[in-house]
Amino acid sequence: MGIMNLGYVILEMQDPAKWSKFAQDILGFGEADSFGEIGTKYLRMDNAPFRYMVRKGNKDRFLAGGYEISSKSDFENQIELFEGSGIDVYRGTKAEADCRAVEAFVSVKDPSGNTVEIFYGRAPDKSFLPGHGIRKFITGAMGLGHMVLPAPENETTISFYEDLMGFGVSDDLTLPAFAPEMPEQRIYFMHSDNPRHHTLGLYNFPNPTGVIHLMAEMNSMDEVGHCLDRVKAAGLHIFASLGRHANDEMISFYFFAPGGIGFEVGYDGKQIENWDIYEPTKSVIGDIWGHEYDFPVVG
Ligand SMILES: [Fe+2]
Repeated sequence: MGIMNLGYVILEMQDPAKWSKFAQDILGFGEADSFGEIGTKYLRMDNAPFRYMVRKGNKDRFLAGGYEISSKSDFENQIELFEGSGIDVYRGTKAEADCRAVEAFVSVKDPSGNTVEIFYGRAPDKSFLPGHGIRKFITGAMGLGHMVLPAPENETTISFYEDLMGFGVSDDLTLPAFAPEMPEQRIYFMHSDNPRHHTLGLYNFPNPTGVIHLMAEMNSMDEVGHCLDRVKAAGLHIFASLGRHANDEMISFYFFAPGGIGFEVGYDGKQIENWDIYEPTKSVIGDIWGHEYDFPVVG
């Protein structure tokens, strides 16, 4: 069945412990046992061994997304597809796979330079209850949430995910340009083999952190509201106020997590039960209400 969901995310942080504390104090994630990488913090959202892997390094940035593929044979087929298209495939070692709590993984670059990992064979760990009274995150077979990646090489990157990895288009969103001399903004939203409206978005501009945003979905509006209070109390910069998106109907807000990582916390995202009869949309409006943007002035 191909790519099932976004199973884990890898970040690099100068201070992984700070990111872990943020994730626990603000988001309600939990710290997992180590899976072998020295200095790395592993964070849990559900009964997966971990969902976030925060490595120690010299920069604060997004390193990779790890997509789950359904079987060893699909995994091998995917590698053949990549290699048949002339893409360099790095096969992770046994030790590196153990550090991800998976049977095996490979790593490739998409045409915009984003690192894509694909894995199979990840057994559930013990159960996990989030902090702050959050009943659960909306995860499981739908993966950890979604992410939007920079894709300045827009058409070739879209084709990489659609034609080589089997993602389907959910919505092709065009928004006005920042300035008259600039191109329009485009976010191309794609789904994998699960009901979540989009698992991946591709944005046609670069971003120094390597990611536009990561999204965690909570179980109720109150859980999102309490999280918003915690974000405000912590003094983190909110760059989009509470609002509801037009395409996936998610009610959410956005803020900068430590290291300048864009983060969306939401509730009530649309789920599509049958992608076979779904008609992809072409939107020109991002929001039904809210999401007033407030980007800090840089420079
Ligand atoms: Fe989002």
